[in-house]
Amino acid sequence: MKKVRTETLAEYKRQGQKFSCLTSYDFISAEIFDQAGIDVILVGDSAADNVLGYESTIPVTLSEMASLARAVSAAAQRALVVVDMPFGSYEISAEQALKNAIELVKTSGAEAVKLEGGIRSAEQISKISAAGIPVMGHIGFTPQSVNSLGGYRVQGRGDSAAQALIEDAKAVEAAGAFAVVLEMVPASLATQVSIELSIPTIGIGAGSGTDAQILVWSDMAGYSSGKTRKFVKRYADLRSELLNAAKNYDAEVKTGKFPDTEHSFE
Ligand code: KIV
Repeated sequence: MKKVRTETLAEYKRQGQKFSCLTSYDFISAEIFDQAGIDVILVGDSAADNVLGYESTIPVTLSEMASLARAVSAAAQRALVVVDMPFGSYEISAEQALKNAIELVKTSGAEAVKLEGGIRSAEQISKISAAGIPVMGHIGFTPQSVNSLGGYRVQGRGDSAAQALIEDAKAVEAAGAFAVVLEMVPASLATQVSIELSIPTIGIGAGSGTDAQILVWSDMAGYSSGKTRKFVKRYADLRSELLNAAKNYDAEVKTGKFPDTEHSFE
């Protein structure tokens, strides 16, 4: 088992070998994904709505992200662990971004950070990577800016929006990022960006032409509630499984069937 590093991902890109990424926010799921061979585990700020019960990613704090990432880092033996910098922790200046990135990697054990934005975040990416912390970029639909993007919508449609997205991607690469997430981008545009960049692109709702894919684990495993977005494929139905287990347990406790002698001490 060889540890995945940012250089491993660069080599995958050079060889045209696709890689897989999933989010995780806890020790047990991280252990499972690591064992499954997932290459990159992202402690995404999607923890905000998937774990902490917030309505968007905006309220999640640096210390909340650090606690979740500590659990994931403790579990992952092979996968590269990346942690999201939450909203408000990097936008003010490159100095603020570096200070918080240092705190996040020191307290969480994660090996890299991710932050949102293209040209607008280039100085931050450059400052953090120059200090020796690998940075993953994130462009296209950036959930922390949901209120200024007019809701959850595909980005980069139309000539000028597509050109702006390409410029964002190039700015992220030039600033020193080791990879970039393309979220909710037309497939043809994501393919073009993936060809033009030398760093790996990681798609979510960006079609099959990117170098890697990422999904929120609770969506792909059918654990979350509500409607899933078009780009999410469900590989399991964990929510129904767990619901049935909890219902059976509830019924057995209430009827006295559990615990039986097999699950009791003499
Ligand atoms: O927070 C997150 O889960 C993410 C991925 C969806 C890319 O940023």
